Amino acid sequence: RTLDDAGALRGKRVLLRVDVNVPMENGRVTDATRIERVVPTIREIADQGGRVVLLAHFGRPKGKPDPKDSLKPVVETLSRHLGRPVAFAADCVGAAAGAAVAALKDGDVLLLENTRYHAGEETNDPAFAEALARNGDLYVNEAFSAAHRAHASTEGLAHLLPAYAGRLMQAELDALTKGLEAPRRPVIALVGGAKVSSKIDLLQNLVAKVDMLVIGGGMANTFLHAQGKGVGTSLCEKDLADTAIRILEAAKAASCRIILPVDAVVASAFAAHAPHETVSVDAVPEAGMILDAGPRSVAEIEAAIDAAATLVWNGPLGAFELAPFDAATVAAARHAAERTAAGRLVSVAGGGDTVAALNHAGVGETFSYVSTAGGAFLEWLEGKALPGVEALRAK
Ligand code: 3PG
Repeated sequence: RTLDDAGALRGKRVLLRVDVNVPMENGRVTDATRIERVVPTIREIADQGGRVVLLAHFGRPKGKPDPKDSLKPVVETLSRHLGRPVAFAADCVGAAAGAAVAALKDGDVLLLENTRYHAGEETNDPAFAEALARNGDLYVNEAFSAAHRAHASTEGLAHLLPAYAGRLMQAELDALTKGLEAPRRPVIALVGGAKVSSKIDLLQNLVAKVDMLVIGGGMANTFLHAQGKGVGTSLCEKDLADTAIRILEAAKAASCRIILPVDAVVASAFAAHAPHETVSVDAVPEAGMILDAGPRSVAEIEAAIDAAATLVWNGPLGAFELAPFDAATVAAARHAAERTAAGRLVSVAGGGDTVAALNHAGVGETFSYVSTAGGAFLEWLEGKALPGVEALRAK
């Protein structure tokens, strides 16, 4: 159920769970994307006369107040993007919260302090969830990016109050459905990043669901090694060679085409502008470190993207944070963006590094959908149920 099912909101206290766990330096928000993405929902509720009570976590303070994890610095940025004042209460439950909520008038917006200042948040303690619920007439969950956590404010509350998905939650779920659950085929997945060990579940789930799987980044080295190729001094999890082979076999059995690099940019060190050369993956020198996919690999990836109707992307294809080893990631991102802009491709991306890589390539805006989620996006790609979403479905 969404906000459309919530009925008249005038005078209602709407507990809106948002994820404003944003990058911050010295008490200043350095990337406001997550804040910007929840503003329309806050405005929609406030414009209807709802009294918006924002619940959120910040950092990992482990159940105790810690000033470095205060949500107070978010107030200024949120208020600026919203174009209206945002009140703040120094606690999310108890007298401070109760008084601040009682002072709200129709259309007002209040942010309550970090829910993780209380141990009951992460243990999903029913008593803590009830204390939160006292400040609301209904609950709207807008925090897809925290939906992999079964916490009181992301899961417990949905069982205590009439519960609805917010607009951003809706948009995320809609994009994910288009990406993997009911996609236009063929579907191509691009999975990169440093380690196979952190993405085994993801690779196993994807080979069963997508038509083509591009394996890039450091994790591709483990696959090349498993195929008997030398990878020099590259990042490689040699103990996972058997796992890599099993994934390749599962892909074959599921008729999923695996695309591994055929050439590589090898450098003498993990450093920007380190001396480098492009070689075949059959001829990586012993002292060479693979930092990017080469141009023949990029051409193959681009051709595969051309053959796809849907693309799902998680993880960069090379060490994109070090010039010039961003070339493959940037080229593939721009190619996917062009196909998207031409109406030929539905492109869905997520994960902190991936979003940074797309922005680095200048195409973050062109993709069909860029998720605000890191861990939640990954768990969803792994095929896991997200407790925050499931609790809404159960209503
Ligand atoms: C995130 O930043 O991915 C979410 O806010 C969840 O944060 P967590 O990993 O600390 O639960």
